[in-house]
Amino acid sequence: MMVDIPSELIAQLSVAKNVLVSTGAGISAESGVPTFRDAQTGMWSKFRPEELATPEAFVRNPKMVWDWYAERRDQVQAVEPNPGHDALAALQKFWSDFTLVTQNVDGLHQRAGSRDVIELHGNITRVKCAREGTHVSVWVPNEDEPPKCEKCGSYLRPDVVWFGESLPVRALEAATHAAQCCEVFFSVGTSSVVYPAAGLTDLALNQGALVVEVNPDSTPLTDRADFVLPGPSGEVLPVLAKQLGAL
Ligand code: OAD
Repeated sequence: MMVDIPSELIAQLSVAKNVLVSTGAGISAESGVPTFRDAQTGMWSKFRPEELATPEAFVRNPKMVWDWYAERRDQVQAVEPNPGHDALAALQKFWSDFTLVTQNVDGLHQRAGSRDVIELHGNITRVKCAREGTHVSVWVPNEDEPPKCEKCGSYLRPDVVWFGESLPVRALEAATHAAQCCEVFFSVGTSSVVYPAAGLTDLALNQGALVVEVNPDSTPLTDRADFVLPGPSGEVLPVLAKQLGAL
């Protein structure tokens, strides 16, 4: 694919100091992690979200939810970061103030070398006690139910945000602050429909940041963005990083 990045955008990015990048499932698509809303391969085409990703589902069918997340965890650990993740890791030092916020739970940004990643929806590789929230790194598998917390006997669950649950307060506060004061806001690989994460884009737009979207498809943001780079992030971001001299 020919990636065409407007020289006017490169010029503006070269002088910017405070940049926020917000990513969604699309950035991990080229690593082989299916996106949520992909009609052919997306995980929700096989399962309804409310059967898997809600507190009610976990109460109703804890073993099914545990097993599904365990499979996803193995899947995520078996794949590698792609050139899109790598480009963002390389870009983190390019601007004096750089924030990376993700809705993804796969930990691929960190594995590519990004630091201080703000995870809005938790991390699938972490497991916590469903009652106390304490993190647990070893557990004894059970046949018919999820493993249990050694301390209190409650079920263990993935440390991800389910539909209907609140986002981690400090992560959301840090992301909100960054969206309010960034000069440039990148929206990468997200359908921009799930709030409150999508609200970060609204904050950036409202305070006058330069908004850039990287996505092969159009989203509710596309018409409002200052620049749209319509391609896969694993191709667009490395070209951008190279043109800026960061790669
Ligand atoms: P979605 O699955 O909703 O959207 C993925 C987006 O990535 C779409 O807009 C695609 O066009 C785009 N995309 C696909 N391949 C791409 C590529 N190679 N490069 C760039 N973009 C690409 O994922 P999210 O927006 O992340 O929440 O979904 C948001 C939240 O909804 C998720 O975090 C999850 C979900 O339900 C919770 O689990 C709480």
